[in-house]
Amino acid sequence: MISFIRKAAKTSQAMLCAASILFAVSAHAADPIVIKFSHVVADSTPKGQGALLFKKLVEERLPGKVEVQVYPNSSLYGDGKEMEALLLGDVQLIAPSLAKFGQYTKKLQVFDLPFLFKDINAVDKFQQSDTGKSLLKSMENNNITGLGYWHNGMKQLSANKPLHVPRDARGLKFRVQASDVLDEQFKAVRANPRKMSFAEVYQGLQTGVVNGAENPWSNIYSQKFNEVQKYITESNHGVLDYMLITNTEFWNGLPDDIRSQLEQILEEVTAHVNSEAGALNQKAKQAVIDSGTSEIISLSDDERAQWVDAMKPVWAKFEDEIGSDVINAALDAGK
Ligand code: LMR
Repeated sequence: MISFIRKAAKTSQAMLCAASILFAVSAHAADPIVIKFSHVVADSTPKGQGALLFKKLVEERLPGKVEVQVYPNSSLYGDGKEMEALLLGDVQLIAPSLAKFGQYTKKLQVFDLPFLFKDINAVDKFQQSDTGKSLLKSMENNNITGLGYWHNGMKQLSANKPLHVPRDARGLKFRVQASDVLDEQFKAVRANPRKMSFAEVYQGLQTGVVNGAENPWSNIYSQKFNEVQKYITESNHGVLDYMLITNTEFWNGLPDDIRSQLEQILEEVTAHVNSEAGALNQKAKQAVIDSGTSEIISLSDDERAQWVDAMKPVWAKFEDEIGSDVINAALDAGK
C-alpha cells in the first residue's frame, strides 16, 4: 500500500513537472521579442526622436509580439560600451555616429573627412548611392548589420574664445569622438584633440579639461554645451550622422514575417528622421541664439577658405585606409 502511495506521488510529481515545463514553454512562446535600443543623446534630437517613433510604430503594428525599450542619454550604455553590448546581445539596436566605427571598418572614415560634403544633401546622396549602401553591409563579418543611415547634421566648432581662422584654434584642447580622422583634423590646425565619450563632454568643457568641441546644433542645445561655450562658429566643416545597426545573428534569427515588418517600419522611421533632422537642428540653433549664452560667428569666404586649406590635407593621410574609390564616390555625390 505504502509503495503504491509513493508511486502515485511520484507520478503526480512527474506530471506536475511536465505541466510546468509545458506552461513555461507556452508562456515563453507568447513572450514578446524585446528590442532594446540604447543611445547617447537626448530624446529631442533626430536620433532620440527616431528611436521613440520606432517604438511607437512597432507597438502599434506588432502588439504583444515585439516590445521596444528605448534608453536615451547613455542611461544604459555610453560610448565605447554600446557596441560591445550589441555584439554580446545585451542590446539589439544602436545608432552610433559614423565616426565611431574605426575598430570595425576604416571605410566609414570617409564621413569624417573635413570639408568633403558641402551640405547634408550631398551626404544623403552619397548614403543612397551604391557605394553608400554597400557600406551598410561592410561589417557583417563582425556580426554587425547596417539597417540605414540617420541624419543628425553638419558640425559647428565651438570654444571659449572666438574662432575665425585656423590660427585661433592653436593650442586649444578640443574634444573629439573616437575617430582618428577627427584627431588629425584638429592636429592640422595645431590644436590638441582629446577623445572623450559623449556623456563626459559637458563636464569636460565646464571644468576646462577641454576648451572646445564640434557638434551639430541639436547636440549643442540638448546637452547645454552652449552654456559652457562662449563662441560657436558656424563652420559646417563636417557631418555627424549615424548608422542604425543591429546584431546580424539576432536579426537573421527573427521570424521572417516579424523581420520584414520591422524593416518596413524602419524604412518609414528613417525617412521621417532624415526629413525632420534639418528642422530640428534649425530649431536648436534658434534656441541657442535666443538663450543668449554664446556669440555665433559666421565665416567670410576668405576665412572659410583658410579652414579648408588647413584641414583638407588630412584626406591624403586616410586615402589608403578608406579607399580612393569610396572617397571619389562621396565626392561625386556632392557634385
Ligand atoms: C558625439 O559623441 O559627439 C556624438 O556621436 C553623439 C551622438 O550620438 O550624436
